[in-house]
Amino acid sequence: MNLSDRIEAVEESRTVRFTPLIQQLRREGKEVINFAVGEPEYDTPTDIISATKKALDEKNTRYGPVSGLPELKQRLAADFEDYDENNIIVSNGSKQALFSVFQVICNPLDEVIIPRPYWVSFSEQVKLSGAKPVFVETIDHQLDCDAIEKAVTRRTKAIVINSPNNPTGAVYPENDLERISALVRNRGLFVVSDEAYDRFIYDNIRFCSMFHFKDIRHQTIVVRSFSKSYNMTGFRIGYIAASKTIISSLSKLQSHLTGNVCTFAQHGAVRALLSGDGQSARHGAEMARKRDIAYNRANQLFDCIKPRGAFYLFPNISKHLRPGESSEEFAARILERTGVAVVPGEAFGAAGHVRISYAVPEDTIHRGFDRMAGAL
Ligand SMILES: Cc1ncc(COP(=O)(O)O)c(C=O)c1O
Repeated sequence: MNLSDRIEAVEESRTVRFTPLIQQLRREGKEVINFAVGEPEYDTPTDIISATKKALDEKNTRYGPVSGLPELKQRLAADFEDYDENNIIVSNGSKQALFSVFQVICNPLDEVIIPRPYWVSFSEQVKLSGAKPVFVETIDHQLDCDAIEKAVTRRTKAIVINSPNNPTGAVYPENDLERISALVRNRGLFVVSDEAYDRFIYDNIRFCSMFHFKDIRHQTIVVRSFSKSYNMTGFRIGYIAASKTIISSLSKLQSHLTGNVCTFAQHGAVRALLSGDGQSARHGAEMARKRDIAYNRANQLFDCIKPRGAFYLFPNISKHLRPGESSEEFAARILERTGVAVVPGEAFGAAGHVRISYAVPEDTIHRGFDRMAGAL
């Protein structure tokens, strides 16, 4: 019996491909330094945990409203000028949010433009919607707006923007995003803006959301997450801010897809919003320091562009590749030889690179680079 063509056409996330090898090395008693992680090392703040426990004690354990708890949506809407709770839907992490967005906006054979390198799931989620991902190269990790404009055809439905970017850490400046907004307006497209790392910005630069561009608001779909900003990856809470029409379609889909997001986890999310502005100032300063340490160390080994956001480096490792060796084979070699796990660039559509996460303790960053330097 054949499975669906849709599922046969997608690949499992390559970011988890080395998990079995990591587990095996650990079983053998070897210490693995995990630069492949996609989450900050910090614990979930205790007040968020207490609020979640309290919600359980108060028996918030039943089905909830499909689009999310009103209190949570109201607080989230406050971040978006002129939006109210009907412009928000809460999702099981921003991963499910993005999956749902492509299901709701794409028809078979539509095209979705994705700047490359790109976060693993964009391409596969677009394919699962029946549409076709169209990749456009970036220049030094920044958008090539001319190339994006050239890639637009009559089948183009949407452009995906992910700033700060996973895997490169690039933050896109307002003037480039303004060009994208003009393109979106003139060609009648959607822009899907994945802002999962909006709280991870360094060097005092200003984060520009696609929401900033008023004249394309009805075409703009902003996706954000509690995962990294509040150290709540396991809570699985993300959300979408968009026009009421789009949100009501997403709600219709969600009513069949998952019903609602875990009720008591949403109470934890309300607490997160009450307690502060995401990543605390202390963590922000620490992350900036880690970025500097990791960048300086990586630059001695590889060709590396300094990231301004998120918590990843995406160096070019070509000069260390053996004849015919792929980045995936390189990553496997480094893991076996040194116990340092990185994610090969192929996972992000960019061979010749690896992604290094520096969301680990500072001494771990040093030890990981010491080991890699020894082996290379
Ligand atoms: C760019 C980007 N978008 C979305 C996600 C999904 O995060 P979550 O589902 O935990 O909100 C991730 C997770 O790594 C990511 O890197």
